[in-house]
Amino acid sequence: MKIKSAEFETSAKSLETCPAPGVPELAFIGRSNVGKSSLINMLSGRRGQLAKVSSTPGKTRLINFFNIDQQWRLVDLPGYGYAKISKKARMIFRDFVSEYLTNRENLLGVFVLIDSRLTPQDIDLDYITWLGEIEAPFALIFTKTDKLSKTAAQKSVDRFLAALSERIEGSPDHFISSSKNGEGKKEILGYIGHNLSR
Ligand code: GTP
Ligand code: MG
Repeated sequence: MKIKSAEFETSAKSLETCPAPGVPELAFIGRSNVGKSSLINMLSGRRGQLAKVSSTPGKTRLINFFNIDQQWRLVDLPGYGYAKISKKARMIFRDFVSEYLTNRENLLGVFVLIDSRLTPQDIDLDYITWLGEIEAPFALIFTKTDKLSKTAAQKSVDRFLAALSERIEGSPDHFISSSKNGEGKKEILGYIGHNLSR
């Protein structure tokens, strides 16, 4: 699948202000700074232009909707686990992101991004376990693989899946990616295309 057009549609800070359901949505979530916005730019072929990337964690504080080919949407969710904002602000994000993931009727799938350079983090394992509990359809994307050798990246994936298998049944679909060198683009877009056409 190829993306022909990608445009910012709107930002929302509550379920009520999300755009009308209309088309299917694929959402991206993960720890702050894991590379969600960069990945959205890489997939849409609009590197550095569509979703805001920043070296300051916690940049994305709204749910951002990007319209793709007038047929579906990429959705950039605020990162979890960012400590430097007030507890109250964190609770507010968390509530509306949870509400989006639980109640959005046109949510086709969620990609949970995991930093491939880290050992398995409880915060990620907990989040994925929760997604399993609410029965949200999800897949994993291991990010920033350009920072690792192929072997090290594979080791990191295996280690994460092993830790996850102690929490949930089965092994989720998963991808490795780099927004720097485009790794994983074809596979992830292929997977999205397959899900859109089902
Ligand atoms: P928040 O919006 O704050 O939650 O962050 P985010 O998950 O959207 O991360 P973002 O895409 O803004 O990237 C965070 C930092 O990681 C930036 O400095 C990026 O340049 C860097 N980064 C993102 N993806 C990659 C990647 O694939 N490889 C490398 N080497 N760096 C990356
Ligand atoms: Mg972001």
